[in-house]
Amino acid sequence: MMFQEIMVASQSGPYGIRIASGIYRCVPEFLREIAGESFRVGLISNPTVRALHGEVLLTLLKEQGFTVVNFDFQDGEKFKNMTSIQECLDVFLREKWERKDPFLLLGGGVVGDMGAFAASILLRGVPVFHLPTTVVAQTDSSVGGKTGVDHAEGKNLIGSFYPPKGVWVDPGFLETLSIRERRSGLGEIIKYALIGDLELLELLDRELNRLGSELFDRDLWETAIRLSVRDKARIVSEDEHESGLRMNLNLGHTFGHALEAAMGYSGILHGEAVGLGMLCAARVGERLGITEKGTEKTIAGMLRRAGLPVEWPRQISYARIAPFLRNDKKSRSGKVTLILPVAPGHVVRVRDYDETNLTVAVPV
Ligand code: NAD
Ligand code: GLY
Repeated sequence: MMFQEIMVASQSGPYGIRIASGIYRCVPEFLREIAGESFRVGLISNPTVRALHGEVLLTLLKEQGFTVVNFDFQDGEKFKNMTSIQECLDVFLREKWERKDPFLLLGGGVVGDMGAFAASILLRGVPVFHLPTTVVAQTDSSVGGKTGVDHAEGKNLIGSFYPPKGVWVDPGFLETLSIRERRSGLGEIIKYALIGDLELLELLDRELNRLGSELFDRDLWETAIRLSVRDKARIVSEDEHESGLRMNLNLGHTFGHALEAAMGYSGILHGEAVGLGMLCAARVGERLGITEKGTEKTIAGMLRRAGLPVEWPRQISYARIAPFLRNDKKSRSGKVTLILPVAPGHVVRVRDYDETNLTVAVPV
């Protein structure tokens, strides 16, 4: 089948992201090609995604002679924790898993982050392949090797850098995704445009309403996903371990992650929190004189067109998010590195600022 492949450079070796509708049918062939002699695969998912897409994949794998060991995480961010990782490790250790036996991760960012984290510590590392099924996972979480789980102290605070051996992106999976989840993914796509992808910015200028609508236009989504993956691949290839450039991908995430944590990882989707977080960053940036006046309004306009929320939850004061801001992984000596928009298409990383200005981030 015809597919596009975007390559990612990694210290553990390069890997490709193959994108095409219907590509999931080629998974057994790809696995053989890349994983070599292993005929055992761990198919890791959750009950929701398995019910929708797991059976057909299982059949394809078995038809091609693979022995499949299944494991499902419980569905939801609130299960993204060490207990779930332990359950996963228990299953594969009981199966006498070997280092050559790969994990195939079928699901959104939660399955991908947890499955890859488990893979990174099982036997000190078994190969990982992603078959992402949400917009967030197809455009962001499956690329770049960040794995992990949440902790009461903050989001994604436990984890590893563990790049996959391959990523297979099938936009067809998005047809079963709820409109709210698809829109949540637009939060990450808008982020790529705002941090510097002018081609994507133009596409969104023309097509955001259509992307945010009930109608699923597969070709349009494939284009938006391809541009986003291209951005992510370029950035993580240059800065795999987030010592500089990769931090830009965290536009909106510092405040967004703090919001998710303050809400107990429920009631808000990741991309929704990132959208609100980008508004926080713009407000702080405008206060610091770094962000062009009117940028917050422009971003709010994009979020509205995408069908994403623009109202900060009234019950979450600045005091509620402040402890989580301090725990951000980009903090140094207790002070968080801010990613601030200068104007749409341009961001800066800021360390030297007066922290009292952060309170304007939260408008309640
Ligand atoms: P998710 O994994 O919780 O998936 C959202 C919901 O959609 C779930 O209920 C899931 O079961 C369901 N679902 C998945 N695919 C479906 C499909 N095709 N049809 C119907 N339902 C489907 O959420 P997400 O938004 O995919 O990912 C968010 C997570 O990703 C967060 O934990 C975030 O921290 C993480 N993340 C990680 C990175 C990274 O670089 N590692 C980047 C961005 C986000
Ligand atoms: N999602 C942010 C990163 O991968 O760095």
